[in-house]
Amino acid sequence: MVNVLFVCLGNICRSPSAEGVFGAVVERERLADRIQVDSAGTASYHLGRPPDPRAQAVARRRGIDLSGLRARRIEPNDFRRFDHLLAMDRRNHADLLAICPPGAEHRLSLFLAFAPEAKALDVPDPYLGGSADFERMLDLIELGARGLLAHLRHAR
Ligand code: 4NP
Repeated sequence: MVNVLFVCLGNICRSPSAEGVFGAVVERERLADRIQVDSAGTASYHLGRPPDPRAQAVARRRGIDLSGLRARRIEPNDFRRFDHLLAMDRRNHADLLAICPPGAEHRLSLFLAFAPEAKALDVPDPYLGGSADFERMLDLIELGARGLLAHLRHAR
């Protein structure tokens, strides 16, 4: 079993969207018995809340239901439980590195490092943006999800 954790700041926009999109890819490829997916935030502003309604709306239009997800904060055990902790932007990556137990650094990656064709390193935080920012977020997440799946397949 490979355990994958997506991490952003609030765990209500980007990382739950990535959890939903990548989870759907895993289901479609019939890999759900091999790859487990979760998400968390580095901050605790929104603990226990469902994803932002705007994130839910763009995901729903692409056939993905985020309504059952609830925000949680990253915890120390996540660095042991998860084989891959995928930061949605460089700030999230730096925040994870700052709290990473020694020896677990190799588990951390920037999500879009798996999708060079995205020509971006960060999935920008859409929280203060508009609907175009949420669409762009999902476009980048779809590219990242495809790249991550190819990487995991190759690594097997
Ligand atoms: P996320 O977006 O990190 O993609 O979940 C954010 C959500 C909330 C806040 C910041 C980013 N906030 O400051 O409340």
